[in-house]
Amino acid sequence: MTEVLSLLFTPRSVDHPPAALGLVKLLPTLVRNPLETWPRPLFTERLFWQSFAGRPLLFVMDPVLIDEVLVAKAAVFTKAPIIRRTIGPAVGNDSIFTAEGAQWRWQRRAAAPPFRHATILGFVPSFHAAAARTASALEARGGETVDVAELMMATTFDVIVETMLSGAASFDTRRFGAEISHYFDTVGWIAALSILRIPSWVPYPGKRRARAGNLFLRREMARVIAERRARSGTTPDLLDFLIAAADPETGRAMTDAELADNLLTFVVAGHETTALALTWAIWLLSNAPDVEARLLEEVGRVVGDGPVEAGHIDELVYVKQVVQEAMRLYPPAPLIPRIASEDVTLGGERIAAGTPVYVPVYAVHRHHLIWDEPEAFDPDRFAPARARALHRGAYLPFGAGPRICIGAAFAMAEAVAILATLVRAVRFIPIAGHQPLPTIRLTLRPDGGMPMRVEPRARP
Ligand code: HEM
Repeated sequence: MTEVLSLLFTPRSVDHPPAALGLVKLLPTLVRNPLETWPRPLFTERLFWQSFAGRPLLFVMDPVLIDEVLVAKAAVFTKAPIIRRTIGPAVGNDSIFTAEGAQWRWQRRAAAPPFRHATILGFVPSFHAAAARTASALEARGGETVDVAELMMATTFDVIVETMLSGAASFDTRRFGAEISHYFDTVGWIAALSILRIPSWVPYPGKRRARAGNLFLRREMARVIAERRARSGTTPDLLDFLIAAADPETGRAMTDAELADNLLTFVVAGHETTALALTWAIWLLSNAPDVEARLLEEVGRVVGDGPVEAGHIDELVYVKQVVQEAMRLYPPAPLIPRIASEDVTLGGERIAAGTPVYVPVYAVHRHHLIWDEPEAFDPDRFAPARARALHRGAYLPFGAGPRICIGAAFAMAEAVAILATLVRAVRFIPIAGHQPLPTIRLTLRPDGGMPMRVEPRARP
């Protein structure tokens, strides 16, 4: 057993402090990389109280208690104000991601149809086509070093525009991605100021740039909505469903501003996360030749040389395991923040109304009480029989409960199709000595991107 484990690839990990940082160290570290503020007990304890500027905050790592927070008592543990403060400026405070109660429920229902199983399978040709375009571009760049993170962003952006907005809009992909990044880069500041209870109008580095970027993104969404209102008669996509939706209680439809907020939510939430899952998966694979060989064998056997089709997705079992394990080590959404909306008890702890209660997904996924060799890359953890034995609160890349990611099945099918297509066409080679560290920028990004060398694989 030990022999087998010792062969597994174990990536370099962030150096976590032994205990919670004091305010003086905490603030600059939060701005640089919030992950570096997470103390080691998050990886070994079931619960951990931390004081932020005199206010208590509870981290929950016990899968049973996580289930209670996100599922059983979801009505009590609502989305924390930090979500509205960090994400609200980008996607509005009443969009599907940020709203609560009735305002959230009807939007969730309105957005559900494109995420039904049969509809998702219908998108597989788009997943394959986007990956095939990226693969051809890479085949032409043999021997070069490319930024895999940037390439995956462009690939999944293509997918989201094509599937959710029927490819109608001519977006400037690079500018779009850059504006999102500028905004995400300021999130450390927003979090630090929020901890100090400094009002949101106070300036901080990058704020003006980020605000200009947000305006650009919203203008782009307004353009897409105006174009769609001017034409009709196509196969309905997400935008059509949102335009047609009416609140069952009031009969009210979404205003153009609400439509823009929701579209932006879907475009941002729906491409960046999947791109990161793919980026980390490709890098992990390139460091684990045995895993890569097994994956290639499966792709060859199930798909052959042709395109990945809908019928292949469920058969690419090992490819899925690789994606799942990549999201265990590097969950694209590393933290799920909630707040107790009333006095409540959890695991014997009394929690006062107004207390932030955070599920640190990244720490849960590397927790010593949950996983053997938590830092090692081992896709066999997700072999179907072993995965069934996992507690549902132990593995949460998509969250859990009523606010679980609406795009989870879409993202899994997309990631499987893209990974299979790319790895079959191109060999990704890690840069010697480059060990990317994960950085929280709302999502979990590789610090400094993901430079890798590419070589086309010989065709059989
Ligand atoms: C690997 C890819 C993805 C990951 C890791 C991910 C992760 C998450 C997580 C953790 C949440 C829950 C947040 C919370 O409870 O506070 C969430 C919510 C959400 N995700 Fe995803 N997501 C992914 C892909 C997608 C895709 C492809 C779409 C759409 C096309 C999408 C749209 C959304 C939306 C709209 C919500 C808010 C749902 C609600 O509150 O009702 N996500 N996502």
